Amino acid sequence: MRFDTDAFPANQIYKLLTATVVPRPIAWVSTRSASDVANLAPFSFFNVMGDEPPILAVGINRGARGMKDTARNIIDTGAFVVNLVPFDLAQAMNLTAIDAPPGVSEFDLAGLTAAPAQHVTAPLLAESPVHFECVTHASLVTGPEQILAVGRILAVHVDDRFIKDAARGHVDSVALDLIGRGGGTAYLRGSDWFSMTRPTWAEHQAESANSGA
Ligand SMILES: Cc1cc2nc3c(=O)[nH]c(=O)nc-3n(C[C@H](O)[C@H](O)[C@H](O)COP(=O)(O)O)c2cc1C
Repeated sequence: MRFDTDAFPANQIYKLLTATVVPRPIAWVSTRSASDVANLAPFSFFNVMGDEPPILAVGINRGARGMKDTARNIIDTGAFVVNLVPFDLAQAMNLTAIDAPPGVSEFDLAGLTAAPAQHVTAPLLAESPVHFECVTHASLVTGPEQILAVGRILAVHVDDRFIKDAARGHVDSVALDLIGRGGGTAYLRGSDWFSMTRPTWAEHQAESANSGA
């Protein structure tokens, strides 16, 4: 079946997109408003987009009251922090998706700790094992009160418990126990990992030559 996006209501397209692009990592984004309120909210339209310089992107849709606080704060301050979500913080993460009015800090609401970052005024979420401190590389308007926030990562923090080899940048991804989002109310917990080594052209040619011999 084909769904031409202009011919279907936006909420149906949203369901198609979020039920097919799975699992999605979750950026738990902390920002600080111009009036100094620490804000925290999850976003699964998220991924890393480059490594030299390191770049990530977060898609922030229009909320029921218009532009979401996170988008407003990123536009106003040019900075944000992406924190990642382990399984044991899933309930707290969900609570911070609440449609709280702008003056309310989701840190306080969920009993979470805002810690100072090194490079930006946006706070770190102390309970999270991984933080990316970002300045805004670009803030693209992609629709009415909808933006794509592209962040340049100035610092990556990883809890020492998960570092396997700091010099090589090796982290114990499995032990992080991060969750991903599916469609609707579905989430995934990554317990089913498997490995594959990437083939090289030279190996592929050698195998073809051997099988033909
Ligand atoms: C797991 C999860 C993922 C979400 N992903 C997105 C997203 O990618 N984009 C978006 O606009 N809202 C997303 N939301 C909804 C926002 O978190 C929610 O609208 C929140 O209230 C925004 O807060 P703010 O106004 O403080 O920025 C998500 C919610 C949850 C629970």
